[in-house]
Amino acid sequence: MIKIAIDGPSGSGKSTLAKALSKKLGFVYVDTGALYRTIGLYVTENGIDYTDKKGVVASLKNISVDLMYDENGVQHVMLNGNDVGDRIRTSEIAAAASAVSAIPKVREFLLDTQRNMAKKHNVIMDGRDIGTVIFPDAQVKIYLVASNHARAKRRYEELKAKGEDITVEQVLSDLETRDKNDSTRKTAPAVPAVDAVFLDTSSNTPDDTLEAAMKIINAKLPGLKFN
Ligand code: DC
Repeated sequence: MIKIAIDGPSGSGKSTLAKALSKKLGFVYVDTGALYRTIGLYVTENGIDYTDKKGVVASLKNISVDLMYDENGVQHVMLNGNDVGDRIRTSEIAAAASAVSAIPKVREFLLDTQRNMAKKHNVIMDGRDIGTVIFPDAQVKIYLVASNHARAKRRYEELKAKGEDITVEQVLSDLETRDKNDSTRKTAPAVPAVDAVFLDTSSNTPDDTLEAAMKIINAKLPGLKFN
């Protein structure tokens, strides 16, 4: 099976690129951040402090997380059988996800869900440790970067569109905190794989980034056909 890993910090354009590539290639798109957000949602909704590592780990026995795909190929993340996709995209749950993702037992808990997807399907998977830990053998590894300003602006617009009352300064500060937590944690820190190809999306449109990524993929897998 073919595995394409797209890693990078929040707001660098991973999901926009990965979704577009999955359409172009007919591969399954796996958004792994949604898995960590789901654990963050569970602890938040059940009154467990996300900084309480023992409490978070103890709660894992009550959690089942699954990925389902509808007829349009859109991913639905299921928490104990319920689709929670529309509840995980808030800044509160992003902070909870970042905190729980630093706990080794949480990462272990989500490992098989991620690896199993590539047993039956060609996948485009986005996250923080796809090229380093989940699929060190991925045929293509792309690491997206963008300026803090560009990333904060993108996230701000998404959160605003969802009705969150937040300022761009607050979004920037949350991003910086999350980047620091994610890249300095001991287990699977968010760092580029040594063999990843960097792509800076700061001043790109989604189409520019897609085109650049297709060139990278073409160079690694020359026989692959794009729709
Ligand atoms: O991509 P995202 O913003 O939805 O991810 C939410 C958090 O989950 C992020 O702050 C770090 C964590 N995460 C991770 O540790 N490993 C991944 N593969 C994906 C996300």
